[in-house]
Amino acid sequence: MQLKIALLAGDGIGPEVIEQAVKVSNAVADKFNHVIEWIPALTGAAAIDAVGDPYPDETHHACLAADAVLFGAIGHPRFDNDPSAKVRPEQGLLKMRKKLGLFANVRPTFTFPSLINKSPLKQERIEGTDLIFLRELTGGIYFGDRGRKDNGETAFDTCTYTRKEIKRLAVKGFELAMTRSKKLCCVDKANVLESSRLWRETVQAMEKDYPEVEVAYEFVDAVAMRLVQWPNSYDVLITENLFGDILTDEASVISGSMGLMPSASIGTQNALYEPIHGSFPQATGLGIANPLATILSAAMMFEMSFNLIKEGAAIRKAVDQSLAEGKVTEDLIEKNMKSYSTSEVGDYLVSIIK
Ligand code: IPM
Ligand code: MN
Repeated sequence: MQLKIALLAGDGIGPEVIEQAVKVSNAVADKFNHVIEWIPALTGAAAIDAVGDPYPDETHHACLAADAVLFGAIGHPRFDNDPSAKVRPEQGLLKMRKKLGLFANVRPTFTFPSLINKSPLKQERIEGTDLIFLRELTGGIYFGDRGRKDNGETAFDTCTYTRKEIKRLAVKGFELAMTRSKKLCCVDKANVLESSRLWRETVQAMEKDYPEVEVAYEFVDAVAMRLVQWPNSYDVLITENLFGDILTDEASVISGSMGLMPSASIGTQNALYEPIHGSFPQATGLGIANPLATILSAAMMFEMSFNLIKEGAAIRKAVDQSLAEGKVTEDLIEKNMKSYSTSEVGDYLVSIIK
């Protein structure tokens, strides 16, 4: 098979972790007789520096022309401490999600048996956790009207959702639930927010189309608590953009490291795969960044965009093996053990796959 993949490395540790995902993907492609054509394109602070736009048209066209997009990370401290900056790297990510119509962000949370002691949570609570968040990605407060009034003394951001936006995300949730344990949790704040009441109303009306799926409705504050208390009680969770952003960072604690969790962002035409972690600027160029979240994102890409299940499994198996053997970056290492660099981990995975 011929795979055409846009490659957006982005900022900070993005280029380093992307390099490993490319190595590993190429190794899998070789093994299973595929050919990958990589199309690199600029995004984030790197694109602001080069052309003044964090998601230039050229990059957009490269994404549209590709079968899938593999993305590293975005963000630079230079902008974080400057609230007056007019152009920010993160705007590139939001623009890209919107322009590519990537409305469903799929964020799995699972544990690795060999890393169960890495989580700060009690082993017996988290063992066997296997849940998936479907986070709405192109609506809500991220994209609503915002601004200042009263001479800048008042600021506002608005959360707007249409029934149509809620429904297309919920359809994905019901469909995913049907392939798993048929349990769906709709996360909202319907006791306070009107947009949440529309979520609940919309999802309730869909229940009759999926009679086998058992739907629970829970408030986001309660989910935040139960998620770390009883993560095993959840399977598929659907939620709006901001709640999903917050809860998926929280959920990554279950797996023991942010450096492990992959994600997919799905639209009607395009799909993008990226680690859930950020650009980790302090680690840039040090060779200590954990590449596994990006490599597992590449596994999701093989599986979801190309239906290449064996290929995805080969990557997952290699990751499991390197974790079990302790061939990992320093974030996962016990004291006094040798850690491996970002590229050594990538090379080791390649050697396993070969
Ligand atoms: C994420 C990130 C982004 C978000 C930022 C970088 C804009 O935190 O993908 O979760 O808030 O969506
Ligand atoms: Mn986030």
